[in-house]
Amino acid sequence: MSFSAAVITVSDRGADGERKDESGDILERLLMELGAVSVMRAMVPDERDHITAVLRECCGQERVDLVITTGGTGVAPRDVTPEATLDVIDREAPGFAEAIRAESMKITPRAMLSRSVSGISGNTLIINFPGSPKACEESFAVIRPVLGHALELLGGAGGECAR
Ligand code: MTE
Repeated sequence: MSFSAAVITVSDRGADGERKDESGDILERLLMELGAVSVMRAMVPDERDHITAVLRECCGQERVDLVITTGGTGVAPRDVTPEATLDVIDREAPGFAEAIRAESMKITPRAMLSRSVSGISGNTLIINFPGSPKACEESFAVIRPVLGHALELLGGAGGECAR
C-alpha cells in the first residue's frame, strides 16, 4: 500500500516548545512502516481556527490521503479537535473513532473521555487520536488492519469487500 499522510499534533505546550512531540514521532514511524510515501507534520495549539486551517491545507492543496490528529479530544475546556474536524469534513466515517474507543475501553476506562471523531474531506480521511504516546500506539493498532482497504476505496479503486 502506498499513500501520503499527515500527522497533526494539537497541543498548547507542544506549540509553545515546552513539550517534545513524542506522539507525532511515533505516528510518523508507524505510518512509514505501513507504507506511507510521505508524512507531513504540523504542531498547532488547541485553537479551533488553527486546527481547522491546517486540516484544510492537508485536504486542499496538499491532498494527503490520510490525516491523523493527536491531542485535544478530551473534555477539558480547551479540547476542541473534534469540533475543528467536524468543521472540515463533508462526510462522517464514525467507525474509526468508534472502534478506537471501544477497543481502548478494554485497556482503560478513561478511553470514554475521548470525544474523537473521524470523517472524510474530499478524498482525505481524517481520524482523531488522543494525545498520549501510549494512546497513539493503541489507537493505531486498532485501525491498522483496515487502513489499506479504506484508502483504496477512498481513492476510487473498486476494492474487493468480501472479507
Ligand atoms: N485511549 C487509549 N487507547 N489509551 C489511553 O491511554 N487515554 C484517555 C483517552 N483515550 C487513553 C485513551 C484519556 S486519559 C483522555 S483524557 C482522553 O483520551 C483524551 O485525551 P486527549 O485530550 O489527549 O485527546
